[in-house]
Amino acid sequence: MSQHVQPETRSWSKRARGLLQFSALVFNPNRGRADLLYELASTDSYMTERTLYRNVGYWKDSPTTLDDACEALAKFAGEQLELGPNDRLLDVGFGYGDQDMDWMEKFGPREIVGINITRSQLEHATERVASRGMSDRISYQLAPATKLPFDDGSFDKVVALECAFHFQTREDFFAEAFRVLRPGGRLVTVDIVPLPYQNLGFFKRWMSSVGLYMWKTCKENVYGRDVYQDKLRSVGFDARVDSIRDQTLAPFARYTLDELQKPERLAKMNSAVAFMIATPAEIILDNPYGLMQLDYVLAVADKPK
Ligand SMILES: C[S@@+](CC[C@H](N)C(=O)[O-])C[C@H]1O[C@@H](n2cnc3c(N)ncnc32)[C@H](O)[C@@H]1O
Repeated sequence: MSQHVQPETRSWSKRARGLLQFSALVFNPNRGRADLLYELASTDSYMTERTLYRNVGYWKDSPTTLDDACEALAKFAGEQLELGPNDRLLDVGFGYGDQDMDWMEKFGPREIVGINITRSQLEHATERVASRGMSDRISYQLAPATKLPFDDGSFDKVVALECAFHFQTREDFFAEAFRVLRPGGRLVTVDIVPLPYQNLGFFKRWMSSVGLYMWKTCKENVYGRDVYQDKLRSVGFDARVDSIRDQTLAPFARYTLDELQKPERLAKMNSAVAFMIATPAEIILDNPYGLMQLDYVLAVADKPK
């Protein structure tokens, strides 16, 4: 960046609001309050520019920006769902709605209904969908993943894009997804779990648990992909869970560390959010402190006919 160009800086009011939101996140011990995290990582505090996606992206075809990678992750999930024109889809944890508008354009499902617990995301997503003229086919409401306000068998597909680690508990969500799916319906999640077979000492476990707390990860959800698959099967799904870490978390971590070197990026972001993204990125790539290592999984789960 040229010496003469000053990076756009965050105003004092934004900084003050960020500080209040960060305090609320740190001091509210309720792990179910992931909305506190997403109010902090709000519209201007992530590394996407053209979109408002809030995931780590899918980097298999070497996209050059996080926006492109996030779109690729949504497309990948849509393909795994086998989304088609007859489907009524439930999107759990819809963020700012980007994936729903992308799915509507690419796969043309009959209807998408989204639920979320973050109020500002609901408001933004509802406006964005309206401005794209999609309100007749995409609708949103405020509700938790573990208490879905829908009838049994009322959806063909259910999806949760990088959010089930927050749900209190993920297992309760699996049972709810099973209930609202019709026989033969499909649930797809992409999700963050620990890598299997880690044997951490007390201090490293404790340090890791601080990170999980900051990311509002429900304690009961901390298990590896084999247990994930068993839990899906135990509620009745035919399920398969695979690691896609090398196409997601690892390249995202590299992108993050490069991006957070840029003064203009740092100037725009909330510094607490930057820290909360940079630390796991370092752990994913080098693990300098020997903390819990993360996996990123794709689960495809079919409700038997
Ligand atoms: C990492 S963001 C992913 C957003 C979006 N799916 C995407 O890929 O851009 C996690 C999302 O899960 C939502 N969320 C967290 N806990 C939830 C819960 N218990 N019920 C419903 N949504 C939840 C958050 O509000 C946020 O929108």
